[in-house]
Amino acid sequence: MNALEVTNGIYWVGAIDWNIRDFHGYSTEKGTTYNAYLALDEKTVLFDTVRHGFYRDLLHNIKRVTNPEKIDYIVVNHVELDHTGSLPKVIELVKPEKIFCSKMGKRNLLDHFHREDWPLEVVKSGDEISIGKKTITFLETKMLHWPDSMFSYIKEDRFLISSDAFGQHWATSERFADEVDDPELFRHAAKYYANILNHFSDRVQKLIETVTEMGLEFDMIAPDHGLIWRRNPARVIEAYDKWSKQEPGKKALIIYDTMWHSTEHMAKAVCSGLMQEGIPVNILNLHHTHRSDIMTEVLDAKALIFGSPTLNNGMLPSMADILTYIGGLRPANRIGAAFGSYGWSGEAVKKINAMLEEMKLEVVSPGVRAKYVPGHDELRPCVELGRQIGAAINAAV
Ligand code: FEO
Repeated sequence: MNALEVTNGIYWVGAIDWNIRDFHGYSTEKGTTYNAYLALDEKTVLFDTVRHGFYRDLLHNIKRVTNPEKIDYIVVNHVELDHTGSLPKVIELVKPEKIFCSKMGKRNLLDHFHREDWPLEVVKSGDEISIGKKTITFLETKMLHWPDSMFSYIKEDRFLISSDAFGQHWATSERFADEVDDPELFRHAAKYYANILNHFSDRVQKLIETVTEMGLEFDMIAPDHGLIWRRNPARVIEAYDKWSKQEPGKKALIIYDTMWHSTEHMAKAVCSGLMQEGIPVNILNLHHTHRSDIMTEVLDAKALIFGSPTLNNGMLPSMADILTYIGGLRPANRIGAAFGSYGWSGEAVKKINAMLEEMKLEVVSPGVRAKYVPGHDELRPCVELGRQIGAAINAAV
């Protein structure tokens, strides 16, 4: 993939990973990109590098623009290895005069690479460096996605390099958001937000406030993954504002696993109760839906209803997996409930409820259990559970 001038003297020089399908537990069914940017001015600056294994791609792209040895500064906006895996090799080749990073960035670079000899220079929010005609302003964005994260803003070009924020895991030959299918673009952006940033929604809200207060205006927002927002970049900020408010809509998810289809019958009965209340429902079987796709569905769902039969005095391991995953991403303002079949002990519902309480979901019912194989009469409480949750959603949204 060729280097590309994205705006006046600023080039995309990153790498496209067409093959990755699992990004630390996130299903990247269409791959991803590791974006890096090169600014040419009196000083030549490389913003971020790429994952280990993509050094050659980065180098080819830099060489199409300039001699890599002419790079004066490297900016490390984020230390995670998808952006720094090739950093040691780049530093060895370039021998930069300075490497700019946040205070936590310095600590984390040392913890990762143990190179006290690197010329690390700490910057903080509001610090500016002139590189000739262009000025780089730094903005710390702690926890978006790591404590070291920061943005780099070039005010003369109204160009924001936003690190992980506003990204998408999507490998494409196009580099700009306005060149691809818009609904698919926003599906990838939503999945990325749900799985990478949802638990830091309060910080996203604060960041939007800070950016507004600082009066920063953008012609382009260039994340480190996926497409660059060029035409009306405010659209993605508006989407982040909406997602980070955690005000889910009129929608319920039934997330279940089943051994002999009894809990599946219960899931369908809960669904019919919700439908009677006019609630859109999505039923997600844990065998057929990846946890990161479930989390994307959580983004706009008011009610999360979990179903598992009892196995070995507890819930199925797949249910513990999804509850742990969703719990870590901290969805707020949600209603929760549980159901499940059992043979003789029946602890699953109680244990799911305990996890829902821990996740701070509003548990509106003690849940429903059904012994062995529920018949028509035994499914009635499941329909009632669906109706009860549907009424609660209608009252809340
Ligand atoms: Fe793309 Fe948090 O790294």
